This record gives sequence, C-alpha cells and structure tokens, in this order.
Amino acid sequence: MSLLTVHDLVVETEHARLVDGVSFAVGAGRTLGLVGESGSGKSVACLSVLGLPPRGVQIAGGRILFDGDDLRTKTPAELNALRGREIGMILQDPMTSLNPLLTIGRQITEMFRYREGVTSRSEREARAIELLRRVRIPAPESRLNSYPHQFSGGMRQRVAIAMNLACNPRLLIADEPTTALDITVRLQILDLLREVQAERGTAIVLVTHDLHLVRRYCHDVAVMYAGRIIEQGPVEQVFARPRHPYTKGLLGAVPRLRDLQHRLTVIPGQPPLAGSIAQGCRFAPRCPRAQADCLSAYPATRAIDAHRGVACWHPEPDPQTADALLATAAS
Ligand SMILES: Nc1ncnc2c1ncn2[C@@H]1O[C@H](COP(=O)(O)OP(=O)(O)OP(=O)(O)O)[C@@H](O)[C@H]1O
Ligand code: SF4
Ligand SMILES: [Mg+2]
Repeated sequence: MSLLTVHDLVVETEHARLVDGVSFAVGAGRTLGLVGESGSGKSVACLSVLGLPPRGVQIAGGRILFDGDDLRTKTPAELNALRGREIGMILQDPMTSLNPLLTIGRQITEMFRYREGVTSRSEREARAIELLRRVRIPAPESRLNSYPHQFSGGMRQRVAIAMNLACNPRLLIADEPTTALDITVRLQILDLLREVQAERGTAIVLVTHDLHLVRRYCHDVAVMYAGRIIEQGPVEQVFARPRHPYTKGLLGAVPRLRDLQHRLTVIPGQPPLAGSIAQGCRFAPRCPRAQADCLSAYPATRAIDAHRGVACWHPEPDPQTADALLATAAS
C-alpha cells in the first residue's frame, strides 16, 4: 500500500476551483515529481494535503490517506502533531518553517531536545553543527547564533531542509525546495534527500518546474495542467513515450543541453485562468491534436497500462504499437 494516497482531491475558493479531482499515490522509498506550469495548482494541492490550504481556500472533496488514515478527519492539533514528525514539509518560502525570533542554533537544538530527548547541551550543539554541515552551510560552528534574517534565502532554505531531515519524517513534501539555490548546491541537496531516502525509506513528493530534476531524482511523475493531473506514470516511461500532448510539449520544450536551470515556458499560448469555466479539455486551445469532440466533455483519466494514466480523448499514439507504426508509414 502507498504511504500517501490522494484520491479525487478538490480544492476551491468561493469563486474558483483551483484543484479539480487530483489523485496520486506515493510509496515508501519512492519520489513522485509533481510538475506543471506556474499556477497549475501544485502548491495548493500540496498545502491542502498537509492540511494547510492558503487563506480563503478550502478542501471541498476527496480523501487524503496517510498510512491508511484519512487526514481530512483529523483535528488541527492532530495534523499539527503529524507535521514535523511523520510528515515533513519544505515549502517555497522557507520562512514558513523557521521562527524569526530564535537563533538557528536554538531552533535546531530545541528540536533535538524535545523530539529526541537529547539532554546534553554540547551533544545537541554538535548534532546541530553536523546537520548544518550536511546541508552545506559553510562554517556551521559560527552560524548557530545567527537569526534567520541574517541568512540569505538559499541558506534559510538549507536550514529548513536540515530541520526536516532531523525530524526523520516518513513522508516529505517538498515544494520547489531548491529553486532559490545555485545549481551546485541544488544538486547536493537533492542528492542528500536521495541518500536519506535510501537510508530511511522516506516517501517524497517533489514539486519542481525542472524536468531535468524529475528525470534525475524521481521514480514517478504527475503532470498538472489547470488544476488537474493530465498524465502520470513512471518517469522513464512517461519521458520516453509521453501520451498526453501537453506532456509531449513540455518535454519537447526542454533543450537537449545539460541546462539544469531551464524552466518550462515554451509551449505557445497560456493556460486558462483559475476558475474560468471551460467545457471539455482545458488544454484544447493550445493543443496540436485537438478535435471538435475535445470540447464536448472533459476527458477523464484513463489507465493506459497498469502504472500509467492519461486524461486525453486523442492521446499520442504509443510508438511501440502497430497502430503507431502504420500511422507513421501512412503519413
Ligand atoms: N489564497 C489563494 N486564493 C485564491 N487563489 C489562489 C490562492 N492561492 C493560489 N491561488 C490560485 O490557485 C492557482 C494555483 O496556484 P498554485 O500556487 O498552486 O500554483 P503552482 O502550480 O504552485 O504555481 P508555481 O509553479 O508558480 O508555484 C493559481 O491560479 C493561483 O492564482
Ligand atoms: S483531449 Fe483533445 S484537446 Fe485535450 S489534450 Fe487530448 S487531444 Fe488535445
Ligand atoms: Mg507553487
């Protein structure tokens, strides 16, 4: 069974549906990459899973099963206890996980005191220094007395990551955890997350714009478009044979260069505004494969094999099937 199973999650404001029937699962020791253009609902979906939807936004439907327990039935206090213990979160803004009024050293050492019952102060400090070293904070001994505002954005994010690792969560939800970091540190941090995952079997949801990172660090990928997941499956299969025209466009937009800083921007056109009412497929205005019937109803996600799903009336042909070979031969 997957450690986290999200089923048909719907998240709304009074005026707009921001996440519209999203389902995904991630098992122990696995990393799911959640990708999609800006505004597609990745952060709203993740925050909702964590029980922290943004102000003015409510979870309107669906189930969020963590180890078989529906998180939607938990009280705020129960959720709070789960977060930071069983469920770690690294959010786009690292200040959400840091206390601006306490020194970095204090925040980390207190965690060792309360979470792990480490009574010796010098041991707590030594562990804090070790942890900061692991996330590549230079000269960590001299940093314990600094406050978060004395750190750069990238350093704060590294501290937030360190604090999450110290809690040893079973599930880690990381929303663009390394975007503020330069490329070398970014890869070091993601390598570290992978190392920790191999040691402890952590399940990870990694939100990113960067398909190179998905290819390098994720086992599975879910592609979001306008509040829905339009394709998902094992990374190797989806990257080698994308079936949704949007996925194919995204992958086509990635230069062959080893340019790890590349972000997804290059499919012509714009996604629909959140909450705009559209009948049928929301990608239709930008889709090279669109046909008249695409506008008649939204394509439900169909399983195309045991591990893959795609929401499209006319998916790209599977290049391995006879049909595709015939279509190529005929064209
Ligand atoms: N508090 C809020 N109230 C109303 N709408 C919101 C709120 N937060 C986000 N939205 C809207 O929800 C949609 C999804 O936003 P979200 O932040 O989840 O996108 P995202 O995929 O994480 O984008 P990015 O890649 O830029 O982080 C957007 O249209 C956004 O404007
Ligand atoms: S349903 Fe139609 S418009 Fe939508 S992605 Fe598929 S082919 Fe394109
Ligand atoms: Mg976001």
